[in-house]
Amino acid sequence: MKIAICPGSFDPITLGHKDIIERASQLFDKVIVLVLNNSSKKPVFSLEERMDFIKRCVNAENVEIDTYSGLLVDYAREHNASALIKGLRAVSDFDYEFQLALINKGENMFLSSSMVKEVCSLGGDISSFVPQEILNDIYKRCKGDGKND
Ligand code: PNS
Repeated sequence: MKIAICPGSFDPITLGHKDIIERASQLFDKVIVLVLNNSSKKPVFSLEERMDFIKRCVNAENVEIDTYSGLLVDYAREHNASALIKGLRAVSDFDYEFQLALINKGENMFLSSSMVKEVCSLGGDISSFVPQEILNDIYKRCKGDGKND
């Protein structure tokens, strides 16, 4: 069974999101729309509201809606997903999405310190992203509090 995840903050879902989700549902056996918090955005709508909006406007049988408070990559592994699907609105989105893709693949080139701190605060392994000499200092400061500007 081919499973894809469409992750995002969906605050609120747009017609662009809806289009991508419905097109993905034709390519995969199951699509999970995963509503997450983006640590760099302050949401206007609650998680419950955002999930309810998606439920009310997405028309596809094989789409499930879920939420998660940890790392996207852990959720994807737990659910045997083979693809993460995100839309790019413009070239300006590319840098951020490229960094997310790199961090989700565990690769360390061009990663921002903010992303490393977010992974750390959500309990992820950052040992391949920062120098060994300062690994413990970062863990001590950032682990678990979720707000490391
Ligand atoms: O719709 P958005 O705001 O572009 O979605 C970004 C989102 C929510 C997919 C991203 O912030 C995310 O994956 N958050 C969950 C925590 C995580 O895995 N972070 C890893 C990157 S540091």
